[in-house]
Amino acid sequence: MSLEDPYSILEKYLSAESYFVVGREFTRVDALEKALGRALFTEDYFVKYVYGNALFVKQVLSPHPHARIKGLHLKEALDVSGVRAVVTHRDIPGVNQVGYALPDQPLLAEGKVRYVGEVVALVAAESWERAVEASQLVRVDYEPLPYVLDPLEAMSRSDVLVHEEAGSNIAFRTKVRKGDVERGFSEAEVVVENEYRTHHQDHAYLETEAALAIPDSEGRVTIIGAAQHPHLARDITARVLGLPASRVKVVVPYLGGGFGGKDDEGPLTVAKAALVAYLTGRPAFIVYSREESIKVHPKREATIIRYKSGANREGKLTAIDVTIIHDTGAYANRAPFILWRATMHASGPYEVPNARVDGYAVYTNKVYQGSFRGFGNPSVQFAVERQMDLLAEKLGLDPVEFRLKNILRPGSRTLTNQVLDHSVGVGEALEKVSAKSGWSQKRREYSEYNKKDGRWRRGIGVGVAWHGISTSRGVPDWSNAVVKVEKDGSVTVYTGIVEMGQGSPTSSHVQIVSELLGVPPENVRVVFGTTEAPDTGATHASRGTGIGGIGVEVAAGRIRERLARLAGDVLGVEPDKLVFRDGRVYQRDNPERYVRWVDLVREAYAKGVELSATGYFFLPKGKFDDTVGQGFAYPAFSYIVVVSEVEVDTETGVVRVLRVWPALASGRIISPVQVEGQVEGAVVQGIGYTLYEQLVFDEKGSILNADFTDYVIPTVMEVPEVEKPIYVEDVYKYGAMGAKGVGEMALIPIPASIANAVSHALGVNVTRLPITPEYVLELTGSLKR
Ligand code: MTE
Ligand code: MOS
Repeated sequence: MSLEDPYSILEKYLSAESYFVVGREFTRVDALEKALGRALFTEDYFVKYVYGNALFVKQVLSPHPHARIKGLHLKEALDVSGVRAVVTHRDIPGVNQVGYALPDQPLLAEGKVRYVGEVVALVAAESWERAVEASQLVRVDYEPLPYVLDPLEAMSRSDVLVHEEAGSNIAFRTKVRKGDVERGFSEAEVVVENEYRTHHQDHAYLETEAALAIPDSEGRVTIIGAAQHPHLARDITARVLGLPASRVKVVVPYLGGGFGGKDDEGPLTVAKAALVAYLTGRPAFIVYSREESIKVHPKREATIIRYKSGANREGKLTAIDVTIIHDTGAYANRAPFILWRATMHASGPYEVPNARVDGYAVYTNKVYQGSFRGFGNPSVQFAVERQMDLLAEKLGLDPVEFRLKNILRPGSRTLTNQVLDHSVGVGEALEKVSAKSGWSQKRREYSEYNKKDGRWRRGIGVGVAWHGISTSRGVPDWSNAVVKVEKDGSVTVYTGIVEMGQGSPTSSHVQIVSELLGVPPENVRVVFGTTEAPDTGATHASRGTGIGGIGVEVAAGRIRERLARLAGDVLGVEPDKLVFRDGRVYQRDNPERYVRWVDLVREAYAKGVELSATGYFFLPKGKFDDTVGQGFAYPAFSYIVVVSEVEVDTETGVVRVLRVWPALASGRIISPVQVEGQVEGAVVQGIGYTLYEQLVFDEKGSILNADFTDYVIPTVMEVPEVEKPIYVEDVYKYGAMGAKGVGEMALIPIPASIANAVSHALGVNVTRLPITPEYVLELTGSLKR
């Protein structure tokens, strides 16, 4: 293998004895401009540079959950002064098809509308006010159709079909068949069976969806827009416009939050702005109002999960039997992938010899389901972890002790029979965090305290979760980046990964380059989120650093190999004995023997050593058999444990989360400060999901609380004390510097740990989210007070 082979580069830096930049204190390079309010987001480009010259785009939404479109009357809207276009499906030059997993979704409604909020037309005018006015004058003849809102009803009906051509409201099915479930249950000493319900969640990013499209006279379009995968946004836009992808350029500036929502809606936002710009020849700007954002864009899945599990006298799980139903809403979008992930994680991070899991993604006439931090996993881990507590209770075991008997270890087989040959630190994480949080003692103390029957009750609960990183099974996944060293020694990196607050391109990418080339971070610039860079894949599935960073590591590693050989010649030292650090390349055991980085670069240019490199890496994957749901599910799993402490007011039903102890087994921690931020943010977003946030639908499936007055998200007052995370660095052999992924992790076990803590506090069985005061009072109605 050559020294520049990606495998040898990844192996070489996986377990270095010490790092100078990786894993150290590091200030992300976008910190200052963001703190000072200078950083530019999509709308800033519009306001600063294009205002007065661009058309405003306003969307016309369907008021019906299900209706046939009989006619479109645009004249009145077009007659409003300043209106330049009213765009409907009839005007789309390319293909009106934007379905992600299944070809079931138009960009602009055609033939039918399938939920209240579906976009029917775009109105473009010289001012926002005119666009809004005209949007109310677009007349659509609708023939209302019968509709279904409840997924169970939708599954059983064939007379009302959201998509006739599908022949059923079941959009997609998944399954796992492992071992012999009947035998497993016959060997069980205790069996627990429950039905769990979880609800939608809105991403509530501060920045709503936005895109600014600028056409040129050659028929090309450039779009600055809020999306999580510039190349996907480009490809979808090109398809809608009927153009080759190379004629569409997408640049993603800083995002005011994505959380998965802009992975789904971003490309559609970009395509809408591009469509208007392409048709009118004018720059076009779209920004969703908060109401539009909440009504239009996909939500976290709402679920019904039926879960039966059994364990034997030794405290080992013997079988699980699970049915997962996702309320997919009007379009499949990513539902097949979300459901797939939920299904393949349905055991939790435990060994289960016998399993049957069935998943159903069901169409209804509501806003559709989409990506949201955790991607189908928080809801199913909630069910898993309630079951684990209930089984432990029946066996008379401590919840942590019971989990440790079943936890995945190196060499374990997962639910899908994938052998975990390395990178499994979850057991250690669980042991450590239980010790640090004082688990056993608190569990006993609070049980005693609650016996006093006072108004306030205390509880402590644990949630353990696993999360397959990157994309699933055989779905191709790769990393790609370009690194080039400029003549003055500064370095430019090109990647498709975006910056949405999480900081991958502005911290870990910079650290990797700085580490490998010994260049100070201020001399490294990362050009991110652009189709001018190679396609790095999406910034989702917590893959930004662990997978996105591989390309950066490989490219920088290649340049380092070349420069090490050159420096070796210059200094008369073995290339492998050189250290790259602080703008110098020196002999490890004789730092006085060195060449300055800038001189080395000059020498390379003089000698014809190429100083730019591509880092491409195609992730090796195994086989998966869909007929039984067995085989290689994910390249590796990230793990997390959280212990949450709560206080419940039995009079008002209010739950307060007091303290949270996280422990991560997510491979190498490249930027501890960033990771702490990610953990804290995800904990708070998880608390919102678990306790407060709730979309309210009326009898037509219309969202009643599409605003931040009535859609309640946590404020700083609800933020608990979040302890510094414990890190078990169970490195992943193909991850960038051994990293797996952190971004989504801390949200995943939060519902479980809070539900377990509330159940502990009240001695009740929490089976539903959100745990609102009303629900708590319903549960405690049976308590004697
Ligand atoms: N953090 C912030 N501040 N803003 C975001 O939009 N998205 C989350 C997470 N953390 C998000 C965030 C989601 S859903 C994902 S998948 C990861 O970041 C993706 O980023 P990473 O893999 O680069 O960490
Ligand atoms: Mo995150 S939901 O995978 O964008």
